[in-house]
Amino acid sequence: MNPKILIIDDERAICASLRFALEDIYDTSTSSDPEEGLRLIEEHPFDIVLLDLRLGLHNGLDVLRQIKQKCPAITVIMMTAYASIESSIEAIKQGAYYYIEKPINTTELRLLLAKALEHNRLSSEVRTLQEKLNVQTDRHRFIGKSKAMEHVFSMIERVKDIDSNVLITGESGTGKEVVARAIHSTGKRKHGPLEIVNCAAIPEALLESELFGYEKGAFTGATQKKPGKWAAANGGTLFLDEISEMPLALQAKILRVIQEREVTPLGSNQKIPLDVRIVSATNKQLEQLVAEGTFREDLYFRLNVIPISLPPLRERQEDLLLLLDYFLQKYAREMNKKVKKLSAAARRLLLAYDYPGNVRQLGNIIEYAMALSSSDIIAEEDLPEYIQYDSQGTALPASSNTQETVDSIPVGVPMKEIEKRAIAAALDHCGWHRQETARMLQISERSLRDKIKLYNIKSVQEE
Ligand SMILES: Nc1ncnc2c1ncn2[C@@H]1O[C@H](COP(=O)(O)OP(=O)(O)OP(=O)(O)O)[C@@H](O)[C@H]1O
Ligand SMILES: [Mg+2]
Repeated sequence: MNPKILIIDDERAICASLRFALEDIYDTSTSSDPEEGLRLIEEHPFDIVLLDLRLGLHNGLDVLRQIKQKCPAITVIMMTAYASIESSIEAIKQGAYYYIEKPINTTELRLLLAKALEHNRLSSEVRTLQEKLNVQTDRHRFIGKSKAMEHVFSMIERVKDIDSNVLITGESGTGKEVVARAIHSTGKRKHGPLEIVNCAAIPEALLESELFGYEKGAFTGATQKKPGKWAAANGGTLFLDEISEMPLALQAKILRVIQEREVTPLGSNQKIPLDVRIVSATNKQLEQLVAEGTFREDLYFRLNVIPISLPPLRERQEDLLLLLDYFLQKYAREMNKKVKKLSAAARRLLLAYDYPGNVRQLGNIIEYAMALSSSDIIAEEDLPEYIQYDSQGTALPASSNTQETVDSIPVGVPMKEIEKRAIAAALDHCGWHRQETARMLQISERSLRDKIKLYNIKSVQEE
């Protein structure tokens, strides 16, 4: 197929002579009216437009702007009389590929066209490679080779370019959000927005206005107009996370928006037409909530057109090995440390653990071990204690045999702080006898020593 060229010039004679000069190698169309030219561009995929800078009443620069608005990728070459070099430079600033002076030398024109086509070919090649690379790097950060994960990858591949709603299910930390992002960022809506609403994190009273937006004065406190997430996601994807937490009253309103494909902000009477793909996620059994009457069945069917389910980590041992390596490298990089190896015992413990918090928990464990370990090897003592005991089958004592307690801990105190206080109290109790303290806390002496250093715990005398 020959490349397609459109010539726009108000002088018909020029159109005719250029067509004559080019039509043996190009599929050439002409138009002496810029408006007709613009229409042709919309209807046919031209590779190059040859555009006159002075088009009778029209200014070629205006036409150039309109062409670039309609088809940013199209290559435009301006044809200009000698006197208007400055406008030609202006044209290049506005996105023209180059200009050629009139009277036109056919050999020169053919050379320029060949160059422009080569330029087109290279840019589209760069674009394709870039896209491939994006998919690969996304894939790179999304680890898994188990059958179950291969199935998830192939589902993402198959649904990314269609508009059907997707419901992602899986235990906490299995990667539901990663899937939602992958669908958006590799699919045909990737240039559109991805809006995320976590239905569990937003107070019930605010969820409706967050989703629907409101007009100024719609309710007390609405001092300013605010666009909602529905409208913000227009042209893209709306990710409704923890969808099971959506209150029943709001479920009815969501259903209406999905059915009517338009949304009315609170306090407004203007309907906004919507083109939004909905991806939702939950770690609950929605069917059960439907049976119990807390989730609308009709909404469930609307959201669950394409189900994708993520298996828990404990059911995919192959992925566990890959993820271990992945996190070891990731945290080494982030903490600017050398990539560490796992001791055989630490590896055994990590492989035997059953990860109720799934991939997120595994990541946290490796981050913790990487931060604490001071050698090139992560030993079992570097792992959180609960893993060491869990796998040894030693239950944590329900209460220790001393009557002393660590001072009461307010809700929300970080784990590190709780651990620090617990260790300090045990050390005090044992008169800073490290061996005894370690035995009492059921951790190794080395681990105790590291933690004393990490948390900068000092005995009363030292303070
Ligand atoms: N297959 C995977 N490869 C690499 N990282 C992953 C993978 N799955 C999950 N993760 C990481 O684990 C963490 C938890 O993932 P994500 O937030 O997607 O889980 P979730 O299922 O949405 O959890 P929750 O139900 O608690 O919201 C994230 O940091 C994510 O990057
Ligand atoms: Mg999540």
